[in-house]
Amino acid sequence: MIVLGIETSCDETAAAVVTDTGEILAETVLSQLDEHRPYGGVVPEVAARAHLEHIDRLVGETMSKAGTGFDQLEAVAATGGPGLIGGVIVGVMTAKAIAVAQKLPFIAINHLEGHALSARLEATNRVEFPYLLLLVSGGHCQLLSVEGPGHYKRLGTTIDDALGEAFDKTAKMLGLGYPGGPAVEAAAKHGEASRFALPRPMKGRPGCDFSFSGLKTAVRHAAMALPEGPFEERDIADLCAGFQAAAGDVLADRTAHAIDRFLQEHDKCNALVIAGGVAANQSIRQRLQKLADKQAIPLVAPPASLCTDNAAMIAWAAIERITASGPGAAEDGLDFRPRPRWPLDPDAPSAAFAGAKA
Ligand code: KG4
Ligand code: ZN
Repeated sequence: MIVLGIETSCDETAAAVVTDTGEILAETVLSQLDEHRPYGGVVPEVAARAHLEHIDRLVGETMSKAGTGFDQLEAVAATGGPGLIGGVIVGVMTAKAIAVAQKLPFIAINHLEGHALSARLEATNRVEFPYLLLLVSGGHCQLLSVEGPGHYKRLGTTIDDALGEAFDKTAKMLGLGYPGGPAVEAAAKHGEASRFALPRPMKGRPGCDFSFSGLKTAVRHAAMALPEGPFEERDIADLCAGFQAAAGDVLADRTAHAIDRFLQEHDKCNALVIAGGVAANQSIRQRLQKLADKQAIPLVAPPASLCTDNAAMIAWAAIERITASGPGAAEDGLDFRPRPRWPLDPDAPSAAFAGAKA
């Protein structure tokens, strides 16, 4: 089975051709970083226009790189939400047009489902259901119990900022570049984490929700208390190290609670999977590795190219859905409407910030 996937929900225009054996025949990811950098963040209108400009060429190039004809495809899938709506519309309409022209089923994939199942995009040693997912990106910070395609239970989410967003804002505050995550991580390497006493919001509280806005404000206050003038390199390094250590402690504490909750409902947790752009952070990975080792649960981190936004995870999620329920049941039909908000677990209690963007 071969599926074409399209991803356009944030600032990456991406297409991929994937097989049901877990092989990525071809994939292309076009980052819009240069377009958004002058604004210090993603501008929805700029993103939508950039997707529109590149998507046709990108799909064509990816199909020829894969050596696949449209008539060999089982289905065409696109991110149907949640995300920046202008971009989602571009991807959905492109996929629908291909589906009509080629008489193929169209499948709309929840972007979060793409992230949730990306750890299974493996030819061998595929992680088994159920597992615990920590999704940490620029738009999300969620703990999910992944029980099978279409079966997700949200155990916790952020009540304010997503962690990637907090990394980006910290970087901006300290005059580091965009995106902030990699810049904060690089600066933190030379820093002393204990110099500034930064808070660990929600640590020790019951439940699995997150909050990062207080931590971000504490970094701002610490920065403002420094002597006037441009920041010294040492100050930046120490603040970044302190922020990163606090974020790691909070993630580990909330995830430990989620593991307890998970094990109340399942005999075993097959893996702790981390996904999303922040999962690329080595210090955070080490912190979670320590927790996973303590709990004797394998930590699974997909390669960075599958952690950040990509289309292979969208094609793969469609393959999982077709495999679980058959092509007919997985098809969404051309009346599907792009969804700016689309919770993976509609029964979860709403939090102040439950995934406005991807
Ligand atoms: O998953 P992603 O590519 O896009 C979204 O769906 O948001 O995640 C992007 C986010 C950005 O906030 C970026 O600063 C953060 O992931 N990020 C990192 C690192 N690399 C990317 N955060 C911390 N450390 C990193 N090395
Ligand atoms: Zn994402």
